[in-house]
Amino acid sequence: MSEQSYEDFISTVSHELRTPLTSIRGFSQTMLSSWDKLDDESKKKFLKIIEEQSNRLISLVENMLSVTKLHAQHEKFVFKKVDVMPVINSVVQIIKTQYPNHKFEIVSHINNPAILADKDKFQQVMMNLTENAAKYSFENSTVTVDCSYCENCEFISLKVKDEGVGISKENYETIFKKFARIDNPLTRKVQGSGLGLYITKNIVEKMHGVISVNSREIAGGKFETEFEVKFPVYNPEKQAVEKCRQ
Ligand SMILES: Nc1ncnc2c1ncn2[C@@H]1O[C@H](COP(=O)(O)OP(=O)(O)OP(=O)(O)O)[C@@H](O)[C@H]1O
Ligand SMILES: [Mg+2]
Repeated sequence: MSEQSYEDFISTVSHELRTPLTSIRGFSQTMLSSWDKLDDESKKKFLKIIEEQSNRLISLVENMLSVTKLHAQHEKFVFKKVDVMPVINSVVQIIKTQYPNHKFEIVSHINNPAILADKDKFQQVMMNLTENAAKYSFENSTVTVDCSYCENCEFISLKVKDEGVGISKENYETIFKKFARIDNPLTRKVQGSGLGLYITKNIVEKMHGVISVNSREIAGGKFETEFEVKFPVYNPEKQAVEKCRQ
């Protein structure tokens, strides 16, 4: 990393860490100094904010560790046969508990799809995309995870769709950059470090996959947004031949 980009990175990280820390300190100081004057309702509200901000710090630190590991060349990817559906089911289960007012749908156009990938990293990709889909869409709307073969049958395509605030075309590239967050009515409300998609794209490409996005307006202010990732189909014969050639 060049000196300038290192300095930019440190200054962005410090800013990102400072915001939740300031809020945690502020609310705990208020509680300590005014404990007797505060009713139970206010105490609960302040503790809730402290909890939310701590969660924000944890996910920020986890994301930064992922970025550091991705930059270190020695990060290990363990490529194996990964059955796609169990991973998707467990990701959707987890996100469902965090977004109980959203609907989730899983669609598969093939039987027992399997890819050649690192299972934990694949799960991280699906988790980031499904979480974003719920985070940037409206309550009661549906998030769909759709699995199909690509036309040439060499790739398995996973599409994560939502009906939400959408992404304009000029931001299709920006969103995959470090710390990029696009201003929209929901980004101001929901928290995030802007690292999720940067990590996701890096992981996908290291697993010989591709990621793309498409967003189109379906009603006033409501967009259908689709993130598609494609991974090589698990094909032991073909992949053994390729390995021999390397
Ligand atoms: N499904 C989506 N619909 C609309 N905007 C999205 C969607 N997914 C991502 N974005 C936009 O792209 C930005 C970058 O996403 P990214 O996942 O990298 O960061 P984040 O969600 O803000 O934070 P985190 O690091 O916690 O994931 C978001 O802040 C949001 O503006
Ligand atoms: Mg995200």
